[in-house]
Amino acid sequence: MTAEVRRDQQSIQSVTDGVLLEVRNLKKYFPIKTGLLQKTTGYIRAVDGISFYVKKGETLGIVGESGCGKSTAGRTIIRLYEPTEGQIIFKGKDISRLPENRLRQQIRRDIQMIFQDPYASLNPRKTVEKVLKEPLKTHRYFKMKSEYQDRVDELLTLVGLDPSYKNRYPHEFSGGQRQRIGIARALALNPDLIIADEAVSALDVSIQAQIINLLQDLQARFQLTYLFISHDLSVVRHISDRVVVLYLGRLMEWAAKEDLFNQPLHPYTQALLSAVPVIRRKDEQIRERIVLQGDLPSPADPPTGCVFHTRCPMAMDICRKQVPHPKAYRPGHFVACHLYD
Ligand SMILES: Nc1ncnc2c1ncn2[C@@H]1O[C@H](COP(=O)(O)OP(=O)(O)OP(=O)(O)O)[C@@H](O)[C@H]1O
Ligand SMILES: [Mg+2]
Repeated sequence: MTAEVRRDQQSIQSVTDGVLLEVRNLKKYFPIKTGLLQKTTGYIRAVDGISFYVKKGETLGIVGESGCGKSTAGRTIIRLYEPTEGQIIFKGKDISRLPENRLRQQIRRDIQMIFQDPYASLNPRKTVEKVLKEPLKTHRYFKMKSEYQDRVDELLTLVGLDPSYKNRYPHEFSGGQRQRIGIARALALNPDLIIADEAVSALDVSIQAQIINLLQDLQARFQLTYLFISHDLSVVRHISDRVVVLYLGRLMEWAAKEDLFNQPLHPYTQALLSAVPVIRRKDEQIRERIVLQGDLPSPADPPTGCVFHTRCPMAMDICRKQVPHPKAYRPGHFVACHLYD
């Protein structure tokens, strides 16, 4: 069997299992360039070999402290960044090495991104109508002018904005409304997957709830799949079906939301959760607050063995020497920690 055929068979398997997106051993290293000649003297290992998948219609939360590689992972998956290594399998196809022209045809429609600050990504000189027509025109989505008009009205209605707003400019909207426009733009081409990177982090709590409800309504209506990146664990807990925990570019734990929040296994996850002031349910153990010692190490020079060992309250000898790989503690609950060897 050729490698090609094998890959295709694996892909078919992914599709039949309902998996929409799978990443295998994904790495993104940024070169560090120094001196006049801009010589590469090292690499920032922003994402360092992560694997997970997300099923169609699910929301996968991605959490971790600032700088752990959440945004880089999202941007690499959508191919805004070239992956350094690994595979991105979307709808059964490996898109990790697709050249730009084929990406445009196949991926740019199907995967969309929503950002933290829609204002920064909305051109201030373009009306909402222009902003929403742009992706449609780039992809020659319709033939008739009237179809473009109708779609703009439809998109605005879908995100709870009055179609008459289409002649306004981004600065005329509130933060929450701008995020609705960002969502409308992401929806324009009927995507399968939306990567939301801190999509509600900049909003007031009451507005956050509205936007999250909107995302959930749209998900049910259009069978959307979300990668929901956030440092806010309460938001992730609300919206996700499954959650991936990253630390220094590595996957520490990956589980169904209930399992992760009720029984976090990794000492890093335990520390993260212990720091969240959430109202706990009755069946949950009260966790003591675990304060992590020391600073986040540099991703340019990560610790040997388990990257978390320098801050781990449970670190053992082996943790300094050997990289722990994610193992299933129970079906669907993966943890990368020597405590569970
Ligand atoms: N374009 C880039 N060039 C060089 N280094 C980068 C680049 N983007 C990110 N990094 C570095 O990669 C690491 C991961 O950054 P990333 O933005 O992915 O983290 P994050 O988890 O999204 O953090 P935050 O919660 O603050 O958004 C950081 O050390 C960051 O400085
Ligand atoms: Mg980020």
